[in-house]
Amino acid sequence: MGRVKIGIIGGSGMDDPLLLEDRKEKKVTTPFGDPSDVLLVGTIKGVDCVLLARHGRRHEFSPTNVNYRANIWALKQEGCTHLLVTTACGSLQEDKHPGQIVLLDDFFDRTTQRKLTFYDGSCNEAQGICHVPMNEPFCPKTRALLACSIKALGYSFHEKGTMVTIEGPRFSTRAESKLFHQWGVDVVNMSTVPEVALAKEVGLLYASIALVTDYDSWREDTEAVNVDLAVKTFKDNAEKACKVLLHAIPKIAEEEWDEDVKKNEDIARSSVMK
Ligand code: ADE
Repeated sequence: MGRVKIGIIGGSGMDDPLLLEDRKEKKVTTPFGDPSDVLLVGTIKGVDCVLLARHGRRHEFSPTNVNYRANIWALKQEGCTHLLVTTACGSLQEDKHPGQIVLLDDFFDRTTQRKLTFYDGSCNEAQGICHVPMNEPFCPKTRALLACSIKALGYSFHEKGTMVTIEGPRFSTRAESKLFHQWGVDVVNMSTVPEVALAKEVGLLYASIALVTDYDSWREDTEAVNVDLAVKTFKDNAEKACKVLLHAIPKIAEEEWDEDVKKNEDIARSSVMK
């Protein structure tokens, strides 16, 4: 079996470098500019991993200003096969509670200001127009392995969920939040799009561990989301995401991935019209 290399993108408050053994900092750049921070290259229980803080380790980049293209390109360039990411999110449904984990299987795009593709004519290494299929944005096999680990750890979680990504940086109005609730969307954040779509364009197997921090603002009798609430709940629960990664990564490495990687790379390649 070909070896796996796991890229990890940590959301706000979960950029824990202590996750990695034999950790080295590696400064890289890409045809799309610099990623949010240095890459932290190392191993988790003997598995090669590359950790990147989505917003920078000092949280310099707002969700709109994160260079998602450089982040994804850098991790692909580093030879990653998988991307496991964490993100804080608000709940839009009664059955999703702060402190729970949602393993995403779909998304809804409400962003307005972001570069959504590598194929915009700005880069020699990404020529043509790319219409990548998005019927299965998240890798189901990786998601199933994450679910096994979460079960083994005894955490409360949902095996599936749809994320709506808003542009931010403001949180949603009550009207927006109620509409998302009525649409049946499960959770809301500011970073899944375009990250997941860009990962698909380069054939990376992408899975997201979404940690619910609040009830957004659709519930009349609940405190509406604010930074203190979201940050505090995220900090209280970030350890869960770390434990899930530590448990799941060696299990992921035991699986056979050659066909999955090839399939995803074929999809990416055949999506480009030249
Ligand atoms: N991140 C955490 N909670 C959120 C919310 N309610 N809306 C958008 N992003 C979030």
